[in-house]
Amino acid sequence: MCSADRRAACGAWPVGVRVPSPQETAAYFRELLEFETVEGGRETWHLLCAGEYGATAPSAAITLRPGDALEVSELTFEVGSPHELEDLHAYLAQAGQVVEPVGADNEAGPGIAVRDPCGVVVQCRLPGADLQTRLRPPALRPRRLGHVNLKMSEPGASARFFIDTLGLRLSDQVGDLLFFLRVSSEHHNLGLRGGAERVNVHHIGMEIHGWESFRSICDHIAACGRVVEYGPGRHGPGNNLFVYVVEPRSGLRLELYADMVHIHDELAYQPTRWETPSRYGRPAS
Ligand SMILES: [Fe+2]
Repeated sequence: MCSADRRAACGAWPVGVRVPSPQETAAYFRELLEFETVEGGRETWHLLCAGEYGATAPSAAITLRPGDALEVSELTFEVGSPHELEDLHAYLAQAGQVVEPVGADNEAGPGIAVRDPCGVVVQCRLPGADLQTRLRPPALRPRRLGHVNLKMSEPGASARFFIDTLGLRLSDQVGDLLFFLRVSSEHHNLGLRGGAERVNVHHIGMEIHGWESFRSICDHIAACGRVVEYGPGRHGPGNNLFVYVVEPRSGLRLELYADMVHIHDELAYQPTRWETPSRYGRPAS
């Protein structure tokens, strides 16, 4: 197991996904959820929001890269200092992981990348430069990236990788099909689910401002002539309120959520094994 100081923080930086038309997908979510969007060059677009609580500058929550079809490009975890990055690098190398360097760019500082057992590219990077962007006051726009939910063939093996090598903690699991992991006090920052031959993004969880926001957002979606995919409702694991929306061209699904459980007592908390798979035949948590 990693020691606490080897753990990374999650959510400050974007999750990268490939979609057929980053510009079109960005425009869709700009209209539907009032994301701020910026072009990042090479057909890449960023969806911005306020970021983690206490952040003084906005951050890119989702980076859309060009590709033939929806695909997860990379997960990025934050590493707080060069010393911690060095420590993590040494630990991963000693654990037999193939560690690749990652150069600084306009998304984050330098870092390293490894692959989980299902092939997911996992970056651990130092903070980058301030985006020098200020956001309009939020109306509908989600506040921050909260979690990424991936589908894959071997979620149990992947869960072990994130727990044993990067220090994530297991919050709950649904049988051996779905694992909820956290790097913060929030119930989950990463969901790993089985049932897919090829690894891909199932959904990206964006926190909204509270349960009152669901009405405004759903009204706006209806006014745009769109429909939600699923919800609103409340999940079992995480106990969060949710509604799902999908961008039709790429199939990229966002979960808008609020009111998720936080785990503050690490010593007392015991993960629950849920055994109600029939509840999760549709998008879960
Ligand atoms: Fe979720």
